Amino acid sequence: KRVILAYSGGLDTSVIVRWLTDKGYEVITYTADVGQGEELSEIPDKARASGAVEAIVEDIKEEFARDFCMPTLRALALYEGKYPLTASLSRPLISKKLVYYAEKFKADYIAHGSTGKGNDQVRFELSVWGLNPDIDVLAPVREWEFKAREEQVEYAKKHGIPVKVTKEKPYSIDRNLWGVSIECGPLEDPWTEPPEDAYQITTSPEKAPNEPEYVTIGFREGSPVSLNGKEYKLLSELILDLNRLAGKHGVGRIDMVENRLVGIKSREIYEAPGAIVLYEAYRDLLSLVTDRFTFHYFINHIPHEYAKLVYEGLWFTPLREALDAFTERLAGDVTGEVRLKLYKGHVSVVGRRSPNSLYVEDLATYSEKDAFDHIAGKHFTKVWGLPIRVLGRRGKS
Ligand code: ARG
Ligand code: SIN
Repeated sequence: KRVILAYSGGLDTSVIVRWLTDKGYEVITYTADVGQGEELSEIPDKARASGAVEAIVEDIKEEFARDFCMPTLRALALYEGKYPLTASLSRPLISKKLVYYAEKFKADYIAHGSTGKGNDQVRFELSVWGLNPDIDVLAPVREWEFKAREEQVEYAKKHGIPVKVTKEKPYSIDRNLWGVSIECGPLEDPWTEPPEDAYQITTSPEKAPNEPEYVTIGFREGSPVSLNGKEYKLLSELILDLNRLAGKHGVGRIDMVENRLVGIKSREIYEAPGAIVLYEAYRDLLSLVTDRFTFHYFINHIPHEYAKLVYEGLWFTPLREALDAFTERLAGDVTGEVRLKLYKGHVSVVGRRSPNSLYVEDLATYSEKDAFDHIAGKHFTKVWGLPIRVLGRRGKS
């Protein structure tokens, strides 16, 4: 029996390789570079030392940025109004790759290292089934005998699995180019302020530069294409550069207690400097180029629905494709530039311009250039206010 395992190279997934091998499975590992900022060149040796027969390592940063982060940006999706779905988004793409290699290597199973109380198990499994319903999924962490980390370390040592005996940080971290999620350790007390060492890619606002920094983001048809006039061929590079720029100013830190799919609340810390800046910029430019009716419909419906579906593992569904068609239509007009100011944990839009702008200065101005028909305003107000007037009259009698 052959299995393709989503392998990070950490303790959990290394122990999974051995554990599955001991149970008689032939394990092929799959490791993706999604911009987690780790050196992956030693992954194949590590996987083989743990018992894998084959180790696949692949750079999927650009596909991740283009096909997963961008549609989510265009939907302005934030789970519970706050979380830009960083970890949630990598799962369907990794699942897609797992399915591809499972078919290619004629594997019987796909395996992942998620627990039974998380969201990730749901995202992996629903994504796999959405693409190939005949593949069964194994999740050893849900059923194995190890209770504590020490037992895993013991097992690893006994089986010659290379474990780094660096002083362990107490956090569980999932990182990709769209952001970082941090859980566990002292963060499990929702009253405790996150220790500074929990943060991976942002400077604290206190230590951020005392001078604000401006960044101009160029968009073409709904995709960011330049930073401060510098054009990027690769979206992933633009996002990583923006992470550095905004992260330096402490932008994009999020601390929340969120509702997991399995019913529990969990305290989560996120860092998404680049994503948060892009959300601010995209929203602003979209509102400049989109008529009121469409913008109101969009902003009142799409962000919420899209965030829910991503969070809940429904990426490979007609619903997501249909919502993408909607946001792509609007994105077609999102060409132009947004100027933002980064300062001590804050990002604010300070300017925007677009060849598709619907802002008409002659109509908006209060100067002598004013071309608005004020008498029309009088009649409009009378008609618009008619129901209120009728209501008011009834109230009197
Ligand atoms: N709560 C976040 C989410 O559901 C973060 C999950 C992080 N995953 C992890 N394996 N550490 O998307
Ligand atoms: C896990 O429990 O596997 C990680 C957290 C999550 O999936 O929500």
